[in-house]
Amino acid sequence: MSSAPACKKLLIFGATGLVGSRITREIVRNKSQFERIAIFTSRTTVESATKSEQIASLQKEGVGVIVGDVTSAGDVARAYSGIDTVISCLGRNALEHQIELVRLANESPSVHRFFPSEYGTDIEYGPSSAHEIPHQKKLKVRAALRACDRLDHTYVVTGPYADGDPGLYFSANASGKQAGSFDVKNKEAVLLGDGNLRISFTTMHDVGKLVVLAALHADSSRNKALRVNSFTVTDSDILHEFERQTGGQAWKVSYTSLDELRRLEREALDAGKPYAVLFTLRRIWAEGGTLYDKRDNHLIDAEHVVDTLADAVAEAIKVQTS
Ligand SMILES: NC(=O)c1ccc[n+]([C@@H]2O[C@H](COP(=O)([O-])OP(=O)(O)OC[C@H]3O[C@@H](n4cnc5c(N)ncnc54)[C@H](OP(=O)(O)O)[C@@H]3O)[C@@H](O)[C@H]2O)c1
Repeated sequence: MSSAPACKKLLIFGATGLVGSRITREIVRNKSQFERIAIFTSRTTVESATKSEQIASLQKEGVGVIVGDVTSAGDVARAYSGIDTVISCLGRNALEHQIELVRLANESPSVHRFFPSEYGTDIEYGPSSAHEIPHQKKLKVRAALRACDRLDHTYVVTGPYADGDPGLYFSANASGKQAGSFDVKNKEAVLLGDGNLRISFTTMHDVGKLVVLAALHADSSRNKALRVNSFTVTDSDILHEFERQTGGQAWKVSYTSLDELRRLEREALDAGKPYAVLFTLRRIWAEGGTLYDKRDNHLIDAEHVVDTLADAVAEAIKVQTS
């Protein structure tokens, strides 16, 4: 098999988003390994009070800022000029725009690799994955990528984030505690099942590192779902680490059985609630949807560079108490 062309001239979509900002930060930290780094963003983001500083600091680091409309073929085709790799970190509400971004990348004379916005659950884990509601848009993007004749792809599959930001697995998850919660301020946790279900997690910091390593290992990451993670643990392991790092006393603990989680998911779906996605994803994770015979970290030299459970809990405590 011929070797894959290198991924050296990068264009990032969604660079100021939740995970996109971490991915962009790691790419910038490793800028000596790349020939060009640019982001494609909207006028609204550039002018927003909360994000303009972030954009200015990227510019100071030598990152090119291309302002345009992600739905304009002309803007995107111009942005692709001289780029060899597109890294999309678009949010859930913009995932469908990627189908056109993929088509334009396939037509571009310079782009040869596309990283779609994945960074989560394995959407092709097993036969039932095809029917999971939150996977549908990402599955369409994968289909568009597989139909390309000139464009390679890499799906970076990381499982849930081991972070304490609101709604993430190591947070208090205030708006949906029954779907699992680690609440540092009140020293209370809600564990899924009996607390001993194994789940593979990745910290958002590691998602950034893993995307960089995937780009730098263009051959090993070519045309695959890279199933990478930071660590595999149970809710009880996470709880014990939180207890250890918050003074050693036992937290108040309750449990949500898998049947109850499925009932909550059904109830939210029937009521048309957008937060149903939270229950669906947690149910998939609790059912074992992040467990593989073997993870792929070794393919991109990422076995020994990822965060530990202790690192993730320390960071989550900082985030929850800041
Ligand atoms: N594994 C997990 O636990 C987990 C958790 C959360 C998300 N994820 C995954 O991570 C990926 C990114 O999600 P995220 O939460 O980081 O995204 P996000 O913060 O909601 O949005 C990311 C970026 O997408 C762009 N964007 C959003 N809406 C747009 C629109 N309507 N039109 C054009 N651009 C738009 C913006 O780009 P600019 O920066 O240019 O403004 C925004 O900053 C998704 O695939 C998501 O499923 C996984």
